[in-house]
Amino acid sequence: AEEVQSDITRVLVTEEQIQAKLDEIAAQVTADYDGKELLLVGVLKGAVMVMADFARALPTHMTMDWMAVSSYGTGTRSSGVVQIRKDLDTDLHGKHVLIVEDIIDSGLTLSWLLTNFASRGAASVEVFALFRKPDAAKVEVDCRYIGFDIPNEFVVGYGLDYAEKYRNLRDVAILAPHVYS
Ligand code: PRP
Ligand code: MN
Ligand code: MG
Repeated sequence: AEEVQSDITRVLVTEEQIQAKLDEIAAQVTADYDGKELLLVGVLKGAVMVMADFARALPTHMTMDWMAVSSYGTGTRSSGVVQIRKDLDTDLHGKHVLIVEDIIDSGLTLSWLLTNFASRGAASVEVFALFRKPDAAKVEVDCRYIGFDIPNEFVVGYGLDYAEKYRNLRDVAILAPHVYS
């Protein structure tokens, strides 16, 4: 198979920087949720890598669940209209929910999810997004924990895909234009 690395212009955030940030945020979350029952909700598929590493950076008990959503839209542009492809298995009543996302781009996915979760009776709902593109925001998302603010470039790796590929890259990197132009 063809090497992933040849499609990369440059690395934006290294695997080491990601792991250090996850340790830092895990320490904050551990302090903030002291004595509370924490449920991590990962958003498939992009959040798979951050969920796996973040959950293992936590020294505390937690439970884990997943949602799969897809946004209706033309091509690569998200419309903000979201469909649930796989719902939670967990009843959120009384739970302290921390949604784990790889990236906030336009903010439409998380904005919709937060509205959806608001009616499910959780004790609290907060967001941890490893990356955020401030210049791409269409709606503001109230996000408690942010890993890195990054420029509005086409980034892939560590769960982030282009046409479902590059999720397995260990670093987060800028995709070379020859791939999509
Ligand atoms: C990506 C990413 C976020 C969302 C962010 O998911 O993983 O979930 O887009 O974009 P937004 O802020 O503009 O809504 P995608 O819909 O590509 O699905 P995936 O996680 O399976 O890649
Ligand atoms: Mn996603
Ligand atoms: Mg995607």
